[in-house]
Amino acid sequence: MTDPQKVLAERVQQALASAFGAEHADADPLIRPSQFADFQANVAMSLGKRLRRAPREVAEAIKAELSDFPGTVEVSGPGFLNITLDDSWIASQATEMFEDQRTGVTEIAPAQTVVIDYSAPNAAKEMHVGHLRTTIVGDCLARVHEHLGNHVIRQNHLGDWGTPFGMLIEHLLDIGEEAAVAQLEAGQGTEYYQAARAKFDSDEDFKQRSRVRVTTLQSGDPETMRLWHVFMDATVRYFNKVYEMLGVTLTDADIAGESMYNPMLEKTCQDLEAAGVATISEGALCVFPPGFTGSDDKPLPLIVRKSDGGYGYASTDMAAIRYRVHDLKADRILYVVGADQALHFRMVFAAAKMAGWLPDTVSAEHIQIGMMLGKDGRRFKTRSGESVKLTELLNEAVERASAAIADRGYDQATREEIAHAVGMGAVKYADLSVNHDSEYVFDFDRMLGFTGNTGPYVQYATARIRSIFRRAGRSPEDVTGPIVLDAPAERALGLHLLGFGETVAQVAALSEPHRLCAFVFETASLFSTFFEECPVIKEGVDPETSERRLALCALTLRVLETGLDLLGVPVPERM
Ligand code: ARG
Repeated sequence: MTDPQKVLAERVQQALASAFGAEHADADPLIRPSQFADFQANVAMSLGKRLRRAPREVAEAIKAELSDFPGTVEVSGPGFLNITLDDSWIASQATEMFEDQRTGVTEIAPAQTVVIDYSAPNAAKEMHVGHLRTTIVGDCLARVHEHLGNHVIRQNHLGDWGTPFGMLIEHLLDIGEEAAVAQLEAGQGTEYYQAARAKFDSDEDFKQRSRVRVTTLQSGDPETMRLWHVFMDATVRYFNKVYEMLGVTLTDADIAGESMYNPMLEKTCQDLEAAGVATISEGALCVFPPGFTGSDDKPLPLIVRKSDGGYGYASTDMAAIRYRVHDLKADRILYVVGADQALHFRMVFAAAKMAGWLPDTVSAEHIQIGMMLGKDGRRFKTRSGESVKLTELLNEAVERASAAIADRGYDQATREEIAHAVGMGAVKYADLSVNHDSEYVFDFDRMLGFTGNTGPYVQYATARIRSIFRRAGRSPEDVTGPIVLDAPAERALGLHLLGFGETVAQVAALSEPHRLCAFVFETASLFSTFFEECPVIKEGVDPETSERRLALCALTLRVLETGLDLLGVPVPERM
């Protein structure tokens, strides 16, 4: 199966080579969707300039080379090539795609090892709304890479270490393990943290105990480690509740928190220092990657060991990048983390390159996640100014979805099931459908809308197709092609579907899930036009037409369901 735009690009490049010489084979043929045809190629304009020939003449020469192309080619205006594909070609490609087990998504060869660092909430604080996006975007990328046959290694870089754990453990002893566990499991990490913090600030004795506890924790004292585990296990159980609710694929096996790197930190620093990559500056061990300067024009340090001998966020990330390249054998490392950490990652990557830990064959990429905003355009908060609790937010989405389908006559159980799928689908799709690095406004009304580029709209298209099959007394799996495309709405849908495989490949290459959202949204819209214009099983529709329209429906359904699954958006059977 082949993406029409890609096929075209290849054919135009061949035409360029045979008309103007092999040195032009790599020129971008500048293929775009067109208002006047399926596509237009604008290369004659730029090439004409370079060759000092009239663009129209150049366009005519390209056209002559495309005489056996399965479509019509016309030269228009100053030298545009308008290209319309033959209906039969589109139909045969669509049929091939329909017969293909992978629905036109080809596996990447050779497979790559892709390490994906995502979600990464901090223990002892409520897993907040900011981690929602890193979780959802990262999980989509993991699904897409897996579907393409890549070896995906998920790394949940939990914030599970550092000086606050002294006071968190002391607080646990104060209130008792049972009470602490109950509170943490319920997702009240923020309240827990605040209570500990308040004591730390007001109670000298507690403060002193906490400080001592940090030391015993760092020394690996068995009883302190046990308490730390009690704290962490309860916290992780809460994170898992959120993951389960969202249908996120992370498991305990993917946890690779900051604490995991403790045993490596000393050696990390030693090696950096021995290699002359890190130097002592004002008592701290620092790397000064070239090109990074502060506001005072002084070189900016990446502090890998603080002046008091302690390690921090950067120390851990230096150990982690070495581990991911050397031990996990990553070809690509994707850090799905907030955009506000851009400088940190640029410095970590630069420092790792200096140390020779990040060879050119491995690409480390910060997939920047934009901030989530409230409707007021500010950082997303509750009215009382606190950050919003994730489980509450998700529950509200489900409740609202349930209200939206209240009048559809479903029994309680079915309604709950649909509401869950629609609620979670809406939240996830809204996160994925905008550029991951742009800020985005969290707005229930918009994301739960049944029109527009929303999860529910695309889900609804699948439910509609399923209902056509139910009415026909058929199953989408039983329909065989071929796909024939007569009516304009059939043709438009068929042509669009051919781009599925290329879209998925691009999502992986560019780490841009919103492209897949745009694709399934367009699919759902084109299906909706087809549905209005081309009856499938109405009286008066002859069996043959009906059958081939069912085939187009089945292909559309597979594309939508696969697409939504890759996005991590659940697909309810009915809506
Ligand atoms: N826990 C961090 C935070 O919430 C994100 C960790 C991202 N991953 C990393 N390797 N630094 O900001």
